[in-house]
This record gives sequence, structure tokens and C-alpha cells, in this order.
Amino acid sequence: MSKLLVKKGLELAETELTQIKESLQREFKVPLPSGKQLSNTLFFLLVDKDEILAMGGLLKTEPVIFNGERFRLLGFVNVIANDKGKGYGKAIMTNMKEYLVTQNITGIGFCKPENKDFYEKCGFSINTTSTPQFICQKGDKRIKNEDGQYIFYHDSSDNFMKKVLDNPGKDVYIPPENLW
Ligand SMILES: CC(C)(COP(=O)(O)OP(=O)(O)OC[C@H]1O[C@@H](n2cnc3c(N)ncnc32)[C@H](O)[C@@H]1OP(=O)(O)O)[C@@H](O)C(=O)NCCC(=O)NCCS
Repeated sequence: MSKLLVKKGLELAETELTQIKESLQREFKVPLPSGKQLSNTLFFLLVDKDEILAMGGLLKTEPVIFNGERFRLLGFVNVIANDKGKGYGKAIMTNMKEYLVTQNITGIGFCKPENKDFYEKCGFSINTTSTPQFICQKGDKRIKNEDGQYIFYHDSSDNFMKKVLDNPGKDVYIPPENLW
């Protein structure tokens, strides 16, 4: 019987961290997030006994500056189903969406075009054109997503994404976190 665990990154057990590390390496060829990123991420884990079937994280992403306004968002990170095609990924995403609804917080994530339908089926809105508006300023470098990712999102009462889509000529400044 599977169950959902919701845990802050720094509260993860050693066995959970080991599995998360393996999944990130296998799927994205990236290491475990830094301590700072872990401490700012709320992990959703679907587990069967000690085995993680699927996972996803909500990363505090603030301040996001757009058109003179500051926003506090949550960014989707580390979305992986270890056992695919059994509804486990959807279970994680619908639980994360429910969390955003309850907390009234906007959540955004960037995904490869081939995963668009998955996020749509999980109840998220999709935008295929606005990713180039998002700028991550690192020192004097302006970093943009370069591999054509789409945005999936859930807007809260701050209407963040509606405002972004209504102003396609304006840049969105996001903090130097790993959103893509
Ligand atoms: C993307 C991923 C998380 C999906 O998880 P999953 O558990 O296999 O998906 P589910 O079984 O919950 O599928 C839910 C629905 O989405 C559909 N779906 C799943 N992956 C899909 C895809 N890549 N494209 C289109 N539809 C997809 C399923 O057919 C299912 O549809 P249904 O509700 O009509 O039956 C998983 O394939 C994965 O881990 N991929 C590698 C890592 C990755 O790319 N993560 C996303 C980073 S943005």
C-alpha cells in the first residue's frame, strides 16, 4: 500500500536522500540539490514501505520581480516517477497542486515539450511561448532557458502568470534557483 509523505528537505532520512540522489542522477544527470536548496524545498514522496515510487518538490522562489511587483512563488523541481505509467507521477502532481490551492500560492515549473500532456492531465495550465521572458540574474550574467522548455503552472489569487501573459514584452526576474 502506497502512502504520501510531505517533508522539508532537511527532514529527509538518509535512505530517502540516497534514493532521491539516484533518481536525479538517472533521469537528469544532476547531483542532489545543495543544502540551501534542500532547506527551501518541500518534498512530496509517494512511498511503498521504504521505496520511493514517485517524487516532486516545491522550491521557495522569491522574490520574483515583474513589472514593478514582487511575488513569492513555489517552483516545481525534481518531478520523477521511478516506476512509470502507473499513475504515481500524477498522484504526486495532484497532491502538490492541492497544496498550492490550500495555501493560495502560485506554482510554476518548466518542462520539456514532450511532457506537456502529462502536466495538462494533472490539471495544470500550459504556456508554450513565454519561457524567454524569464531571466535569472547571476552576478552580471542574464541567464535564460535555452532548450525550449514550456511552462506549466497553477495561478493563485496573485494572478502572477496572467500578468506575465498579459505583458509579453516584459522580463520576469527569478532568483538564481534551479528551475530548469
Ligand atoms: C513525466 C513522469 C513524471 C510521468 O510520471 P508517470 O507516473 O509515468 O505518469 P502517470 O502514470 O501518472 O501518467 C498520468 C497521465 O499522464 C500521461 N502521461 C504520462 N507521461 C506522459 C508523457 N510524457 N506524455 C504524454 N502523456 C503522459 C499518462 O498516459 C496518464 O494519462 P491518463 O491519466 O489519461 O491515463 C515520468 O515519465 C518521469 O519520471 N519521467 C522522467 C523524468 C522527467 O522527465 N520528469 C519531468 C521533468 S519536467
